[in-house]
Amino acid sequence: MATFNNYADVQAGLTAFVNTAGVNITGAPHGEFWATLDYTEFTTGDIPGVTIGGPWPILVCGDSANSNIIQILKGIGAAAEKFRQMPRPRPPYDPEQSDLITALAAWIDAGCPNPTSEDADENEGEDEENG
Ligand code: HEM
Repeated sequence: MATFNNYADVQAGLTAFVNTAGVNITGAPHGEFWATLDYTEFTTGDIPGVTIGGPWPILVCGDSANSNIIQILKGIGAAAEKFRQMPRPRPPYDPEQSDLITALAAWIDAGCPNPTSEDADENEGEDEENG
């Protein structure tokens, strides 16, 4: 079972999944959005290229149950009602799809961690502004 420790793992996991499933991701209006979006865009932005019924936020950090990417991969929720389960055309692609959902949901519920190698080496360098 895959574990996603950072955004690079998420990107690699999604790419591996579509390659294994053999789906035509370049035919999707959103394309391979995890490969084109940076961490901040992926965790705070909307699915690119899909305006109908949207905008559709990709995810809610810390809340996989309310994240569109999880819901649509499971085939539940508003986005799946509108566009059907992803990825097209014949989901789910099991067991890879349920493995992906489990790993991705765990990463989202953990607050979308994305430690850099610097963070791992150094102390946390967060400055808090004191009033
Ligand atoms: C909030 C999340 C998502 C939304 C709103 C969304 C929306 C859409 C829409 C509107 C289409 C076009 C449907 C049509 O032509 O009738 C589409 C196609 C597609 N999407 Fe998504 N999608 C999402 C997530 C994903 C994810 C996570 C994957 C893959 C892991 C994926 C893979 C695909 C594929 C393979 C197609 C079809 C490409 C083809 O027709 O050849 N989508 N999506």
